[in-house]
Amino acid sequence: MIIKEATFIKSTTNYKDSPLPDKHEVAFIGRSNVGKSSLINMLCNNHKLAKTSSTPGKTQTINHFLINKSWYLVDLPGYGYAKVNKKLRNTFENFITSYILNRQNLDCLFILVDSRHEPRKIDLEFIAWCGEQEIPIAIVMTKTDKLKPAVLEKNIQVYVDTLLQEWEETPPMFYTSAENKNGKEELLEYIEGIVEPHDM
Ligand code: GTP
Ligand code: MG
Repeated sequence: MIIKEATFIKSTTNYKDSPLPDKHEVAFIGRSNVGKSSLINMLCNNHKLAKTSSTPGKTQTINHFLINKSWYLVDLPGYGYAKVNKKLRNTFENFITSYILNRQNLDCLFILVDSRHEPRKIDLEFIAWCGEQEIPIAIVMTKTDKLKPAVLEKNIQVYVDTLLQEWEETPPMFYTSAENKNGKEELLEYIEGIVEPHDM
């Protein structure tokens, strides 16, 4: 699939204010600074579409983009952003979880994790929570350009082994770089299978 057109539609902090759930939708989530906005821009061939920043906590709203006039791609705020105070963080995480639980047209939630790090507790807990809630997920390892192939290979294996301690099989997994566009085709192909016209 080629993304020919990506249009910003709306930023909200409440699923009730989101665009009508009348189109297929995929969303991207993960820790602050993991590279969600950069990955979205890479997929859409538009480096100005979603705002990116080297400072964590850039995306603080739910952002809907309409792709090829037919489906929604959503940039969600990062979880586990340490610098906001606890009350704000709870509010933040409540609106994200409430979005995930209530958005009827959410076909797949892509959970981004940094390929450089060992599996982190917060990510594993979030993945487990999605499992309990029966949210369809896929895992996207980001920033693979920062690793030598052998190290990447090892980190992938560690992630897979860790997931297999809890799951019978791993969710679909993708290995990407917004820098050198690795993984772009694979991810777009997978998304195509999700959003191409079929009954909702
Ligand atoms: P929040 O909106 O704050 O939650 O962050 P985010 O997950 O949207 O991350 P963002 O895309 O803003 O990227 C964070 C930083 O990582 C930026 O400095 C990016 O340039 C950098 N970055 C993102 N993806 C990659 C990648 O694939 N490779 C490299 N080398 N850097 C990346
Ligand atoms: Mg962002």
